[in-house]
Amino acid sequence: MSKLALDGGTPVHDSRQRPWPKWPPVTKENLQVQERSFREVYLSATEGIPQPRGRQFARQYCKYLGVSHGLLTTSGTSALKLALCAVTDSDGLGYNGECIVPNYTFIASAHAAWEMSFSVRFVDVEPESACLNPDALEAAITPKTRVIMPVDILGYPADMDRILAVARKHNLKVVADVCQAHGACYKGKKCGSMGDAGCFSFQSTKNLTCGEGGFVATNSADVYNRAYTLHNVGRPPSGVSFDGPRAGYNYRPSEYLAVLLENRLKELDAQCERRNRAARYLNNELNGITGIRPAKVAYYVTNHAWHLYPMRYIPSAFGGRSRDEFIRALQAEGIPCSPGYTDLQSRHPVTQAVKKRHPELVAENPCPNTERICAESIWLSQQILLADEQDLTDIPEAIRKIQKAFHA
Ligand SMILES: Cc1ncc(COP(=O)(O)O)c(C=O)c1O
Repeated sequence: MSKLALDGGTPVHDSRQRPWPKWPPVTKENLQVQERSFREVYLSATEGIPQPRGRQFARQYCKYLGVSHGLLTTSGTSALKLALCAVTDSDGLGYNGECIVPNYTFIASAHAAWEMSFSVRFVDVEPESACLNPDALEAAITPKTRVIMPVDILGYPADMDRILAVARKHNLKVVADVCQAHGACYKGKKCGSMGDAGCFSFQSTKNLTCGEGGFVATNSADVYNRAYTLHNVGRPPSGVSFDGPRAGYNYRPSEYLAVLLENRLKELDAQCERRNRAARYLNNELNGITGIRPAKVAYYVTNHAWHLYPMRYIPSAFGGRSRDEFIRALQAEGIPCSPGYTDLQSRHPVTQAVKKRHPELVAENPCPNTERICAESIWLSQQILLADEQDLTDIPEAIRKIQKAFHA
């Protein structure tokens, strides 16, 4: 039996000889394209408003998503903040009611709601998708509820038909947090195109990135007009005058971000296809290893974004060794991985800090599925899925090696 790299053995994957793909990828061709675009913006002397390139990218991304309106913003968090206010026709300055957020997400989902004066109710997720559970959602609705924020976590689409049915029944707005789901599709529809608004992040780890940025997608001209006005210090899309003024913030991105996105959008589908191919290979291989369980992909997922590749770890199949021990061993074998969100967002230190000062802004319902997912998950990040097939084979091989050693 081969010695674990953790104990001084040879790692299955030598990352110095065969480095995992960097993100975002840099090639000579895309460097040339970006240089040309940056030069155009620089020479145009229009690096900000009136944002011709930002508007151009918005039109392109709207076409890609199949929505009528879209707004480029400074981050996924600001996109969520703008959308939350726009769909409720508010300015974020007075109490706005409750927003339902799944308990398995990044802290920014809830934080965006708090910043715009919503209270947050954390609700359980589905056992496989780790997305908002429609039954738990309906049971969690209170007279204060105004907005539902499903999150397409790790790039897995939430079950939008069921969520939208609950929203219609209770007359609630839906702001989809699709910050991790570029290119994902639910029953053939692009994630972010359903509900009252969909919000993307273009932060540096995301499958479509410009370093920092965000996007509000909507099929409502009213939602777009309000979001635009809020992001441009109260100025409406029609021009610079303050007609029909309302409170406004500054969430306008620079034109350089727009051109990065324009160029990278062209590569998104091919990268997505590659990630899907790698995920199919890993699902197949890992399903054959007792104690490792890849996520089951539901019939309605017509395209998975695989922002992260999750698997579940069952210690009893690995000699009772803990998930942390397994992760350390897998990392030492040259496979970068992490446990992801190790606790419910309702227990996150930031949530606890908000709750201490503002107990009225935090509520939670029982979340047994989220508990289990937090305890069992292991993530590989999206750029690993862009690796060569030969490198991907090292992943199941390393896991099998560790399993043998843990049982010895
Ligand atoms: C699920 C989710 N929501 C919101 C955000 C916030 O996006 P940003 O970092 O661009 O503000 C992120 C980013 O990591 C995210 O993963």
